[in-house]
Amino acid sequence: MTQHRGEAATTVDGARAATPDREAVAGLVLDDRAADLLFRQARTAYRFTDEPVTEAQVRAIHDLVKWAPTALNAQPLRVTLVRSDQAREQLLARLAAGNRAKARTAPLIAVLSYDVDFHDVLPEVLPSNPAARDGFVEEAARHAFGQFNAALQAGYFLLGVRAAGLAAGPMGGFDRAGVDADLFPDGLQRSFLVVNIGHPAPDGTFPRNPRLAFDRVVTTI
Ligand SMILES: Cc1cc2nc3c(=O)[nH]c(=O)nc-3n(C[C@H](O)[C@H](O)[C@H](O)COP(=O)(O)O)c2cc1C
Repeated sequence: MTQHRGEAATTVDGARAATPDREAVAGLVLDDRAADLLFRQARTAYRFTDEPVTEAQVRAIHDLVKWAPTALNAQPLRVTLVRSDQAREQLLARLAAGNRAKARTAPLIAVLSYDVDFHDVLPEVLPSNPAARDGFVEEAARHAFGQFNAALQAGYFLLGVRAAGLAAGPMGGFDRAGVDADLFPDGLQRSFLVVNIGHPAPDGTFPRNPRLAFDRVVTTI
């Protein structure tokens, strides 16, 4: 991704994905450089350089994306940074076979999970509604809400990674029960996404795939 930054919005892997529709651009307030960094030139990465991802970068990502919205301001996403050799090897073994090589070169791998007991922080993060926690005392009521809102936050996190000048490689292909047994044996967090993070290698992306056009996605009634 970074090798594209600052270039004219021409092509990405031969596709016209980075050439924005003129009318659509006219509707944006976001400047071109940021739009390229976050969306148009940003790519999912599968191979990375050795350059490390620092704690300061991860903190900067959190300090940005924490402002994005969740229902009831519940913020159920939890991020586990897998840095030790032992934890990395354990995680690699839990990935789908086709994902292992993609993760192996990543300087940082993060496991995204949701906090099953997210309702316990509601009195703190939603002080305007002290009764909100009561709606979630049954654990069964918490999973769909927790997973959905954490998935929204995962999207924000991927954009935050890009905002830090890094590339992300999200992977849903892994043994969730196995990762949960390894990392969250108390059962209080449920993993749902593994994200490779780093600077993409020059050959670190696949060709850009097409996106659905406006009329296939948006209906006005
Ligand atoms: C939730 C999610 C799960 C994904 N799971 C995998 C995966 O298991 N393995 C993989 O190689 N890519 C995976 N991807 C990568 C997507 O295929 C990729 O982001 C998408 O095709 C867009 O690629 P682009 O950013 O280069 O345009 C996943 C992406 C997302 C957002």
